[in-house]
Amino acid sequence: MNEEPLISLENVTFAAQDKTIIRNLSYEIPAGIATAFVGPSGGGKSTVLKLAAGLIVPSEGIVRFRGQEIATMNRAKTLAFRKQAAFVFQDSALWANQSLRQILELPLKIHFPTMKAEERTQRIVAVLAETGYRKELDIRPAALSMGEQKLIAFARALVCQPTILFLDEWTESLDDNAARRLVDIVQGKRQEGCTVAFVSHNIPVIRELAEKICIIEDGSVSRCVTAAEFARDKTLAKTIEEGITQ
Ligand SMILES: Nc1ncnc2c1ncn2[C@@H]1O[C@H](COP(=O)(O)OP(=O)(O)O)[C@@H](O)[C@H]1O
Ligand SMILES: [Mg+2]
Repeated sequence: MNEEPLISLENVTFAAQDKTIIRNLSYEIPAGIATAFVGPSGGGKSTVLKLAAGLIVPSEGIVRFRGQEIATMNRAKTLAFRKQAAFVFQDSALWANQSLRQILELPLKIHFPTMKAEERTQRIVAVLAETGYRKELDIRPAALSMGEQKLIAFARALVCQPTILFLDEWTESLDDNAARRLVDIVQGKRQEGCTVAFVSHNIPVIRELAEKICIIEDGSVSRCVTAAEFARDKTLAKTIEEGITQ
């Protein structure tokens, strides 16, 4: 197992609207493994994931990707990082005024500017087949259920063939078949050597995918365990389950 840190958060504090949400948090996301961020609602999991992905900038401390501070990267380096690192937001975050087709084309237009329209279409068809979305594309997100929006958000994340996946509550609002399909996709990405950092409330999904489990409470890492420790420590699993179901 490759334990080199891909992304490191060093003494990170994040404050918004006079509220400190993350407090002096340090954590390293290893390359090539799946890390689950778990913990009670409002504990800061989504904020940690966004900080790790460089989508928000810490108030204090540094977030690095392969040793380089993300917040101070130039445009070319930021784009290269964004091309590799895809994010599925807890609320899907699809553009409300764009069609699904436009939403799925945008990352390809940004990251593969010379790609022909025909190849873009092929890529989009392929990721939609993987995620299992079968309805039309010339509609807006408001016409979809929450679960269908998640499938589109997932397809958008996959379309540039990322090597790092940030997935926030990504099996929520999906039926068992759709959730299974997405877990299988993530397993496939893991086997290809991708790094996965995810937030989930789903203990079976955590058990199936995560090699490391990081518990976030009150804006800090309260404990980190390996999958083997998690499997052995029934009290911890129960505590986590209670914490995340409250
Ligand atoms: N931009 C923001 N402005 C103000 N409060 C925020 C902001 N982002 C998150 N919070 C608050 O920070 C806390 C942690 O949020 P979040 O990271 O979404 O928690 P989790 O994902 O663990 O449920 C919550 O109380 C949330 O309301
Ligand atoms: Mg959250």
